[in-house]
Amino acid sequence: MADHHRNLIAKLNDRSAVIGIVGLGYVGLPLAIRFAEVGYRVLGFDIAEDKVVRLNAGESLIEHIPHTAVRAMRDAGFEATTDFSRTPEADALILCVPTPLNKYREPDLSFVLDTVDSLTPHMRDGQVMSLESTTYPGTTDEELAPRLAAQGLSVGQTTFLVYSPEREDPGNANFDTLSIPKVCGGVTPACLEVGLALYGQVIDRVVPVSSCRAAELTKLLENIHRAVNIGLVNEMKIVADRMGIDIHEVIAAAATKPFGFVPYWPGPGLGGHCIPIDPFYLTWKAREYGVHTRFIELAGEVNSAMPDYVVGKLTQALNDRTRSVNGSRILVLGIAYKKNVDDMRESPSVILMEKLRDLGAVVHYSDPHIPHFPKMREHHFDLDSTPLTAESVASYDCVLLATDHDRFDYDLITAHSALIIDTRGKLPASDAVVKA
Ligand SMILES: NC(=O)c1ccc[n+]([C@@H]2O[C@H](COP(=O)([O-])OP(=O)(O)OC[C@H]3O[C@@H](n4cnc5c(N)ncnc54)[C@H](O)[C@@H]3O)[C@@H](O)[C@H]2O)c1
Repeated sequence: MADHHRNLIAKLNDRSAVIGIVGLGYVGLPLAIRFAEVGYRVLGFDIAEDKVVRLNAGESLIEHIPHTAVRAMRDAGFEATTDFSRTPEADALILCVPTPLNKYREPDLSFVLDTVDSLTPHMRDGQVMSLESTTYPGTTDEELAPRLAAQGLSVGQTTFLVYSPEREDPGNANFDTLSIPKVCGGVTPACLEVGLALYGQVIDRVVPVSSCRAAELTKLLENIHRAVNIGLVNEMKIVADRMGIDIHEVIAAAATKPFGFVPYWPGPGLGGHCIPIDPFYLTWKAREYGVHTRFIELAGEVNSAMPDYVVGKLTQALNDRTRSVNGSRILVLGIAYKKNVDDMRESPSVILMEKLRDLGAVVHYSDPHIPHFPKMREHHFDLDSTPLTAESVASYDCVLLATDHDRFDYDLITAHSALIIDTRGKLPASDAVVKA
């Protein structure tokens, strides 16, 4: 053990190690760039042939990552491949693949397990594998470690296995991979030491925890904390609205308290790959221990009811103007799940568009970050983003502000809209603006 352990740590510390990033998406790509920036050679693995071709051509696949960053990484020796037989070239294998829910809203670990099954037959002694995908406590110990052992790899002796959750916040200009502290747990103390060496060169602060399970639950706690608090403010929004109080004013006022209060903002529902999904990884696993995660279920219930609340407010507002949803022309502003990004996964805007279409509205959208409505597994709209001009805005019966991108011209929208439904508390109250 001693040699593999010592040699691997030495290679990580002097940056001569080759870093394999498996899954080159929202999490994997910025991480690859970060390792390349500090001088590591990075080998990227993905099953998507088109991504690999485009990355090797120096093209970024994510709006907030410039092409120049991918080109600089290429110049520093980065290469992407679909060929998993190249696994032995890497000293570290960092797994950044999706962890969605299946149709029964249970964890779907198939991407993680497929990835591990593609890598392990090619693994050699002296490598470290790090899982970054969000998952339930026990995944690394119960699913990954046995798969490595089944290939004859000796975890903690010659091969090292850690879990280190990703905390990427796409579009947040205040933090980047370097400055976001990173939690890491190892299957054994030796694994943890390797994990700390792996991340220590690229992250300002690595936070060790006593086990992979603790690291897995840390990530879930962070996201459950958000889901529950967003559920709380969404419920408060409904109460405040009935009382004729602006919830955004109240949250801003409460946030002046210098301790004991953290502001969360209401919206049209939860979106993104993490907050609507991750909490249910814990709900599922907790059942094995006979525990019912009531806060998670309740927050899920409140948050998933928000699109109906918004549609109700919109219907009422049209009704007040002697119009029905059926036959109205409605423009949805922002279909990304949050402001200033091009990511539509689990976006509540799409649910809103479907509900309004089902009620008979003519639905269009405008989003400067998403020029064409993309192919999605469950949602179909054959639409391009509507350019915002005085004429186009004025041609709709109602404009629904779902995602408040900075690039929208709010003066133009306010000046020319007949009716605005504002789900983000962005616009000053007026006769034409209804908060929802
Ligand atoms: N996006 C975020 O902001 C964020 C933040 C924190 C944590 N996470 C977690 O990180 C993980 C990855 O999320 P993401 O947003 O980067 O996903 P993504 O869909 O953007 O990227 C995943 C990549 O993995 C590739 N892939 C799928 N199966 C593969 C396989 N068998 N082998 C190799 N590559 C494969 C896909 O082609 C894709 O390029 C998830 O568990 C997610 O919950 C995401």
